[in-house]
Amino acid sequence: MLTPTGEIVADARRRGVGAGAFNVITVEHAEAVVTGAEAAGCAVILQISENAVRFHHGRLGPIAAAAKAVAELSSVPVGLHLDHVESDELFDQAAGNGFGSAMYDASKLEYSGNVAATARAVARGHACGLWVESELGEVGGKDGAHKPGVRTDPDEAAQFVRATGVDALAVAVGSAHAMTTQDARLDHDLIARIRDAVAVPLVLHGSSGVPDDELRAAVRGGLVKVNIGTALNVAFTGAIREAIRRDANVVDPRKYLRNARDEMAETVTRALRVLTAAA
Ligand code: G3H
Ligand code: ZN
Repeated sequence: MLTPTGEIVADARRRGVGAGAFNVITVEHAEAVVTGAEAAGCAVILQISENAVRFHHGRLGPIAAAAKAVAELSSVPVGLHLDHVESDELFDQAAGNGFGSAMYDASKLEYSGNVAATARAVARGHACGLWVESELGEVGGKDGAHKPGVRTDPDEAAQFVRATGVDALAVAVGSAHAMTTQDARLDHDLIARIRDAVAVPLVLHGSSGVPDDELRAAVRGGLVKVNIGTALNVAFTGAIREAIRRDANVVDPRKYLRNARDEMAETVTRALRVLTAAA
């Protein structure tokens, strides 16, 4: 059933487990995430990024409607989240398209610009019932802007949350977006310091590159929402590549998408077991 993201995150936080949030690009992604969550018996968050909307010709409606319909038919709670939104116009379409939450990402701006833009977005989001996530200290790797040294400062994070009124904060603690190997090392001391300084739940981005034991430790240390995208695409594309290698004449997409969707679902089930084994 479709469930507000804020409820899923609050429940995970109460229980000391991670809430998995998986990036949706195609309908098959949404189906796989929900199938994988049902197999694990866990709530899950479907998230659609501004980049994915751009891929769908800049139109949020069709892919959001598909994800929402998949969520509504699920036997586990499913949240719908609009991810990494830099455009105010797109942010303002979230609530009307069934999203319970959105990440307003002004992390590329310097501190005072980030605070001002985020506070304005939070006010608009709250007025229509959205749970709003934002980011301080750009997570490395996005759009090629790899900045491995970037970290969120705990005092600045506390000040940022107070000044903006955000409901959750994405932090830079050692992960990087779009990694296809699981060898990132997180700064667990820093995670603990930010958790102690900040009242709202913390969000880990770029979690595909984080090994399972590091993820469990991060959740134990105070990370709650855990965003995973690339790992699904590694599974999806790997299965398609293998199907075409086995039969170079394959034409019907169902022949290779079925297995690709199954592989993504298994990736989701495995990840959710890691996140919920942290308690
Ligand atoms: O917001 C989405 C995530 O940060 C996904 O990152 O593709 O590196 O797992 P990832
Ligand atoms: Zn991210």
